[in-house]
Amino acid sequence: MPKRVVLAYSGGLDTSVIVRWLTDRGFEVITYTADVGQGEELSEIPQKAKASGAVEAIVEDLREEFAREYCLPTLRALALYEGKYPLSASLSRPLIAKKLVQHAEKYGADYVAHGSTGKGNDQVRFELSSWALNPELEVIAPVREWEFKSREEEVDYALRHSIPVKATKEKPYSIDKNLWGISIECGPLEDPWVEPPEDAFEWTVSPKKAPDEPEYLEIGFKEGTPISINGKTYELLGELIIDLNRLAGRHGIGRIDMVENRLVGIKSREVYEAPGATVLYEAYRDLLSLTLDRFTFHYFLSHIPSQYAKVVYEGLWFSPLRSAMDAFTSSLSKYVEGVVRLKLYKGSVQVVGRYSPRSLYVEDLATYSEKDAFDHKAGASFTKVFGLPLKILGRVSKG
Ligand code: ARG
Repeated sequence: MPKRVVLAYSGGLDTSVIVRWLTDRGFEVITYTADVGQGEELSEIPQKAKASGAVEAIVEDLREEFAREYCLPTLRALALYEGKYPLSASLSRPLIAKKLVQHAEKYGADYVAHGSTGKGNDQVRFELSSWALNPELEVIAPVREWEFKSREEEVDYALRHSIPVKATKEKPYSIDKNLWGISIECGPLEDPWVEPPEDAFEWTVSPKKAPDEPEYLEIGFKEGTPISINGKTYELLGELIIDLNRLAGRHGIGRIDMVENRLVGIKSREVYEAPGATVLYEAYRDLLSLTLDRFTFHYFLSHIPSQYAKVVYEGLWFSPLRSAMDAFTSSLSKYVEGVVRLKLYKGSVQVVGRYSPRSLYVEDLATYSEKDAFDHKAGASFTKVFGLPLKILGRVSKG
């Protein structure tokens, strides 16, 4: 029996070379390619995989599963790694790993493989996810161990073995894409002082080139799920996000430039585009703050967004910690009901109106007009008791 491996395959140079490299080492290679909303044509993938030596090539549309089961919980946690990155690449790895494991089990393969390098986060995400789901499977990461030192050497090898490689001149960037966002690394971006050149961006226009007039969007939420844009209801969350990427990208929204801490201890300069996610985070947060009582909202903000982001970033998707946090955020998500009105303009998105049947905003209590129903006298006693600790401190320190 030949050794069988299921390989996460993008069709790019690295993974095409990996197919042949594994075949040379006695493996029967089954490639697995997912549509996670990267917006690329995948119809030629099977032919390409087979031309590189694969015995079988699987292509699956995972857009809705990715949107519902990975992006939505992350939105409900308002998770941003180091306060900025909405985790697009980090989220697709556990899903792809889950599929690799499922297909390995189905095809009787003892191995899964991926094309990540030894100094990135993705190796950790693939491997932890795969081990959590099936600890018997062995994970192979050819890029960590092979002999090629440069892209040119890989191209040489590909040409020698008649592996189809694109002749087109590639951009100098390393790009990862899915419907939750794009991540862009390498090339001129490796100097953290250099402003990202315009050609690094794909989904967003420069705010300078964005329309001179603001655009208003109304996003409807039901039980913590975005369901409509400007009154148009979406059955598929994936489609809503893809449309939102287009709408917000036209206004230059969702560009993120940061130096982040990778798991392996280095800092890296990363540029992201996440127009749809950026808009949804603003909208979701706003409805949450409108409909949650103060105690719960403050607890949520101080405990969930950064912790959830860490869990996702660090590859702990298939952990009890993530499920427990999901249980917490889903129990709150039922409050997130209503419509948020947003203004998109020259690279920025602002919430300018909100409505919810579960709103805790009481106009009679908030108003400064004659309708005011707030008990002002109670304010004096409240302030006296609330301020007591500082008053005592003041007394003691004055001696
Ligand atoms: N730094 C980001 C992360 O760790 C993006 C990684 C993108 N991966 C890639 N192979 N280009 O999630």
